[in-house]
Amino acid sequence: MGEKVLKKNDDITVNIERFGANGEGIAVYNNKIIFVPFACEGEQVSAHIICDKKSFYIAKLINIISPSKERVKAPCPYYGKCGGCDIQHLSLDAQLKLKKNIVKDALSKYAKINVSVNDVIGSEKQLRYRNKFSFPVQQTDDGKIKIGMFKKNSHEICEIEDCLLQSEKTKDIISLFKEYLNEENITAYNEATKSGIVKHIVVREHAESFILTVVVTDEKFNNFRPLIQKLSTKFKSFGIVKNVNKLSNNVIFGKRDEFIYGLKELKIQEFEISYQVNNRSFLQVNNEVKNKIYSKIISEINYAKNVCDAYSGAGLLSAIVAKNAENVYGIEIIPEANINAEELKKQNGLKNLTNICGDCSKVLPTLAKQLKSDFSLILDPPRKGVDKVVCDAIIASEPKQIIYLSCNPATLARDLNLLKDKYEIEFVQPYDMFPQTANIETLVKLNLRKA
Ligand SMILES: C[S@@+](CC[C@H](N)C(=O)[O-])C[C@H]1O[C@@H](n2cnc3c(N)ncnc32)[C@H](O)[C@@H]1O
Repeated sequence: MGEKVLKKNDDITVNIERFGANGEGIAVYNNKIIFVPFACEGEQVSAHIICDKKSFYIAKLINIISPSKERVKAPCPYYGKCGGCDIQHLSLDAQLKLKKNIVKDALSKYAKINVSVNDVIGSEKQLRYRNKFSFPVQQTDDGKIKIGMFKKNSHEICEIEDCLLQSEKTKDIISLFKEYLNEENITAYNEATKSGIVKHIVVREHAESFILTVVVTDEKFNNFRPLIQKLSTKFKSFGIVKNVNKLSNNVIFGKRDEFIYGLKELKIQEFEISYQVNNRSFLQVNNEVKNKIYSKIISEINYAKNVCDAYSGAGLLSAIVAKNAENVYGIEIIPEANINAEELKKQNGLKNLTNICGDCSKVLPTLAKQLKSDFSLILDPPRKGVDKVVCDAIIASEPKQIIYLSCNPATLARDLNLLKDKYEIEFVQPYDMFPQTANIETLVKLNLRKA
């Protein structure tokens, strides 16, 4: 293309050569990459440069000159404004192909691993699949209350009435909550003045029930009766928890939870296991896809004398595995989740399950030494992946097989790079746990290489 050096605020017409790791379009201009969110591979678009960095530009999509045949009309009216979804403008087929390529590219780029990646296993629901939402609540300078989502890379709220990734209940919960704040003259948080009471609402659901956590800045605030009355007009089975967070940082929850009303926990029965989760324990957000993944994990454990489930959360997977294994060890850092896991163990009479509350980087090296190589290992770490100490302990202790479930292809690839000399990859299976977003869940099975 032209010789001109592009600068911030320039307009340009470009051809989108490929998709990036976050589903954005990528064009190249004078050997410098331009990220164009919401543009598709193969399109010609006009875009406005909004950021000029040393090695890349970011441009805002202005006009699609020649649309891709994979482009569809995004179902959500807030798409592109609310900072939530990134690929609603792609057909389902294109979303799944993109995700497979993101995993393939990450393995090749960060680990020089060029294995075949299976086609992505889809979600039954492409919308309304999430079981948890978290919306900031803010008061503008002119006193208006806004509930919604933060716009991308900002703390400005895009006000929403509904979110198509959440359940049908969302719309009613948002509107009743807003009515409650307005009628009771309850203030919402104003980031500029650091004043106001309600900061966030977080809802965790299962089937017809939900627990609403109201995050407030004032521990004395207790005016929940009108909210209970309002929610009772629409819903039969719900609970309310107050959480106090006085800090003005990016963390949603403060340390203190106070039970206010109704359900304290959601009762769930799956895989012949009964368990309960509270408002804070980790749950995979797409239940149907989670069940597909767990079923696959169970069927792939072919050495079940000792199984170590590292990063075990509220313990459901450890418990399911314990039904068919001799000894199972779950390791989880969050004490509340560990309490849930212990309840689950007792309730289901799983004497062969040991739940350890601690940091995998401290617990796993010792446990791995004890078990020698006589165990199978499940890894399901948070986005930042597995600590290097944990990878070192795995390499030293040589568990017979590893089943690694990851929600971040880049850190998965980084970790597999450390393990690849000792372990052979049997399969890489991505799952569409998060339709309409570029996030991907990937299951990898690794077998210890024969000496
Ligand atoms: C992706 S979740 C997986 C939870 C569980 N396996 C499931 O499927 O519900 C990761 C879990 O790892 C826990 N975690 C994060 N860092 C940890 C660490 N260093 N040691 C142990 N657990 C950790 C988190 O609290 C969270 O429960």
